Formats: sequence, C-alpha cells, structure tokens
Amino acid sequence: MSDLIIVGGGIIGLSTAREAAIRGLSVTLLERGRPGREASWAAAGMLSPLAEASADGPFLDFALASLRRYRSWVAAIEEESGRTVEYRESGKLRLALSARERGLLEQRREWAATRGLHARWFEPAELREKEPGLSLSVQGALLIEEDFRVDNRRLSEALVEAAREAGVRIQSGVEVEAIEHRGGRILGVRTAEGDSISGDRVLIAAGAWSGALQGLPRPIAVTPVRGQMLALGTEGPFSERVLESEEVYLIPRDDGRLLVGATVEEVGFEPGITAAGIRSLLEGALRLVPGLGSAPIVEFWSGFRPGTPDGHPILGPSPEVDGLFWATGHFRNGILLAPLTAVVLAAAIVGGDGPRIPEAFAADRPALASIPEPSG
Ligand code: GLY
Repeated sequence: MSDLIIVGGGIIGLSTAREAAIRGLSVTLLERGRPGREASWAAAGMLSPLAEASADGPFLDFALASLRRYRSWVAAIEEESGRTVEYRESGKLRLALSARERGLLEQRREWAATRGLHARWFEPAELREKEPGLSLSVQGALLIEEDFRVDNRRLSEALVEAAREAGVRIQSGVEVEAIEHRGGRILGVRTAEGDSISGDRVLIAAGAWSGALQGLPRPIAVTPVRGQMLALGTEGPFSERVLESEEVYLIPRDDGRLLVGATVEEVGFEPGITAAGIRSLLEGALRLVPGLGSAPIVEFWSGFRPGTPDGHPILGPSPEVDGLFWATGHFRNGILLAPLTAVVLAAAIVGGDGPRIPEAFAADRPALASIPEPSG
C-alpha cells in the first residue's frame, strides 16, 4: 500500500512524485510505456510565460512563478541525478514579418513593462548585427529576456533518476485502466492486467490520456492536440536564443540540432507526421533564416499535448472522491509549469504550507462543463 499512486510518468507525474517523496510520502508511479517518452519527449522545452499567455490572469501568474523556480529546481535535479539538462536563460527573439506583427509586438512590449518584465525592441539593422542569418524580410524583433529553455528530454531522464533517488518506485510498462473508489473514498487503481493496486491517494497525471480512464467520478475535459516537430542539423553555433514568428519557433541545442516546431492539430490520437505539417514547419523556418535551406533534416516526430477548453491545466483534488487528485491538461506548457505544479500538488496532497492552486485550475470550474467524448 502506497501513500500515493501516480498514474503517468511524464514530466508532471515525475516532478510531483519527486516532490511528494521528498515530503515523506511513499510514492508509486505507474507508467504504461517508458517514463518521459510521450509529450514530455516530444516537447521543445521553451519556458515562455509571456509568449504563451494572452492576458494578465492566473495562467500568467502561475507560469511566471513556475519560471522563477526553474533555476534552483534544475540545480537540485542535476545534483540528485548526476546529469545535466541544458538549461539556458538565453531569452527569445519574437520576430515581426509584417507591419501588423510589429504592431502586435509593440503592444506586447508595453504589456511586459506593466508586469515588470524585460522586453526590448530591435530595429532590423541592429537585429541583423546580432543575428546575421535572419531574412531581410524580418521587420524587427522583440527580445523577451524572461524566456528560457531547457532540453526537455534530458530533463525527463534526469527527473527519473531524481525521483528514484527520492525513493519513488517507478513501474514502467504498467497500464492503468481504471480508478477504484467506493463511498466517495479512493481505494487505488486497476491495471489493464486486472491487478488492483491500493493506495491512500491517487494522482492522475496521464496527460492527453487522462480522460480515458475508467471509473472517473466525472468526465474530464482533456483532449489530444497533436504537435509535429523536426530537427535540422546546423554546423557551428546557431543563435543562443529561441527565434519565434507567428508560424514557427527555432530552438538551438548544444549538439548542433535546431528544433523547429510545432503544428497545433486537433486530430484525436492520430499519430504521425504529415507532408503538410512538415511543409509548414520548413516554410516557416526558411522564411526566418533562408540559409537553413541547405541544412539536413536529422529527426522528425510528433506528440499529443493535453488540451483543455480554456487552455488552463486541471490541478488539485477531485470534488467527488476523497483522495483523488488531478494534475493534467497542461497543453503547451507542461515543461514550464512542472516545478510549480509539483509543489502545489504536493502541498495539496500532503497538507501544510505552500503556494496554493488557483481556483481557475480546479476540476469543477465552469469552463470544463462542456465535455467532449474521449477520443481513444
Ligand atoms: N510549447 C510549445 C508547443 O507546445 O508547441
């Protein structure tokens, strides 16, 4: 019997497992495949509160608070795991390709200033001194300093080690089919093999698959949103910064790969890479940096983001079943939101002091009321 069973071994499940174990719980994490190999692997590792938020509000507050934890969180994980995760506070250049985009970025600069964030506009001449490979059609860029990046694959692997080091029992290849509860109290989970595993609390952190579990006390509005990506091989150092337009983002890695992402497609759990997806990524990338036309494509992949109707994650206790908790629906921001998600969930599960979960992320909020059918 564990104090806490976590369903799902992505970055959210792993980071919450580590945090709960550090706070003294016995934690078992069940992952149907290999930990960190779904959306956490497919992601790009951009840590972009300002780029991902559309307005002030709980999402931006939560994202900024999570970003502020990143440096020390990563340092702890690197130490516990003995691995490095390529965390860089390198900033992002948000590029304008038209007068309309310039106008929108100017508004974003003013908004950033109201939040005390550092965003600076570069005219084309100054910009090209910094980034000589940029297309002549780029009409300026906003440098967002509070926009960092991490190698999400290396982070996921390090988190597996750090969670184990904290005492988490990680069981790979164990698929949870159902949540078991009786009389409004959680009992544990049942696996696809038919085994019941009992636990005092259960946390569902199964990303896009969270709504497909049997026995849920209510349908949960999480749906898959496919993202296709590719990596180009670059010779020599590319920009240290993330470059982003309305169409694509380009993310450098130390090993010379340049990640190009990502499509946003509501096609259910349809796996794979499409001609149209790859074309849109390549066109977007070459519009920004024409010289990339000669770069080899070294990898392409896709993954499923866990989308919600309002784009906010679903965090915290189930209103119906005592001992059941949610940490899912992080959509485009699971990597960014992991450190704070882990802390608020662990505090909610263990009790005691700590930052609280915003009401806007609750499982019974009105925005989740229209539930799509689970698609697989
Ligand atoms: N975080 C970027 C994406 O999901 O494409």
